[in-house]
Amino acid sequence: MKLWSGRFTAELDKIAEQFNDSLPFDREMYRQDITGSIAHCKMLAHCCIIPDADAQNIVGALEKILEDIESGALEIENAEDIHSFVENELVKRIGDPGRKLHTARSRNDQVATDTRLYVRDCIDKTVMLLRALVSTLADIAEREKSTAMPAYTHMQKAQPTTLGHYFAAYANMFLRDGERLKDCRKRVNVLPLGSGACASTTFPIDRDYTAKLLGFDGVTQNSLDGVSDRDFAIEYLSCATQIMLHLSRINEEFVYWSGEEFGFLILPDEYSTGSSIMPQKKNPDVNELLRGKCGRVVGDLTGMITVMKGLPLAYNKDMQEDKEPIFDADKTLELSLRVFSAFLEKVSFDRAKLERAAAGGHSCATECADYLAAHGIPFRTAHEITGKIVLYCVNNNKTLQQLSLEEFRSFSPVFDTDILTAVLPSSAIARRSVKGGCAETELLRQIKELRQAVKKL
Ligand code: ARG
Repeated sequence: MKLWSGRFTAELDKIAEQFNDSLPFDREMYRQDITGSIAHCKMLAHCCIIPDADAQNIVGALEKILEDIESGALEIENAEDIHSFVENELVKRIGDPGRKLHTARSRNDQVATDTRLYVRDCIDKTVMLLRALVSTLADIAEREKSTAMPAYTHMQKAQPTTLGHYFAAYANMFLRDGERLKDCRKRVNVLPLGSGACASTTFPIDRDYTAKLLGFDGVTQNSLDGVSDRDFAIEYLSCATQIMLHLSRINEEFVYWSGEEFGFLILPDEYSTGSSIMPQKKNPDVNELLRGKCGRVVGDLTGMITVMKGLPLAYNKDMQEDKEPIFDADKTLELSLRVFSAFLEKVSFDRAKLERAAAGGHSCATECADYLAAHGIPFRTAHEITGKIVLYCVNNNKTLQQLSLEEFRSFSPVFDTDILTAVLPSSAIARRSVKGGCAETELLRQIKELRQAVKKL
């Protein structure tokens, strides 16, 4: 039964009905819809808009409907959308009092409320997953605090760092994602109910009362904005995209680190798959999917933005298209974060290969230039001299660590025996003790900060 049949004489065409209905996907929001209706009903009674007895009747029946859906006793079907379904079921169960629930409400403010409740749940769950992920990354960072590896720029070896420093970098990225979500939550957690269809309502409702019941921090300030605002959904999807983007970056690194050419990472059997034709293969499918799933969520965000572009005030049916991107992003995000955290528990690293790689590519050339600069040579000149030393190494197939003091001295008399240790990756790492650096004590400070920040998340 439609919620709006009074004005019509003909039934909606079957194909138009199928096109119009959102039940196949918005059924996902049944809990939020019922919770919102219970609060609305309590508010109506509180404001003496409907009798207490009716309200009790409605609330009792709504609670039972929720219970029946959760137990599987009640199938969600045969309705235009989840709001119609719940209301139809209510009227089926208690008759006329049920027909009072929609007083001072429109599906426009109802759906905006349900969606905000849904997104709020998504945010809370994601923040919890991020907390766990950042803690795991911090643990790995601490464990690998002295595993040297090359840091890259332009994917060329740049300077030595540690695997711990690398993991702490990602921990910072995912920490920001959590903080961003929590900030987004402030704008999500505002109640639009009471905006009515668009221009609010003539009933003396108490919106703050409903907001309190539903755990909202406040109410939307303008009814036209209240029903037509989907900024909160765009913001949430943008936060989700950012998380997936971070996952795609680290997993791209894991994909090539797992290949023979790098060999930095040992894929756990539990998180890799084989080939149907090549018996030797062990593929990083999980990491590739974690890289690829970002595309889906970018699509969810792009779809949402595109739907909202150019929409006039207030509610337009286009906005029904807001749900699937949210659901899809949430599911993708949750599964991705769970599988990635589980992967991290099992993955191991080839420390010897990482350490060998750390010294390659003349990665300690900056140390040599810094040495000269610290001895009074202008940095530009020091850079020039060191460039010549590197060229000498390249032409003579030598590493900086293989040069003798005499060889160094042939480029500048400033060099002394301590240059021989200054160009070792271990000293390059140990000397980078400034804030943000990779020296062990500094890294431990960063990890401590991370752990404190996670507690506040
Ligand atoms: N299913 C609709 C949606 O998701 C509910 C709101 C319907 N409002 C309306 N004016 N037709 O947007």
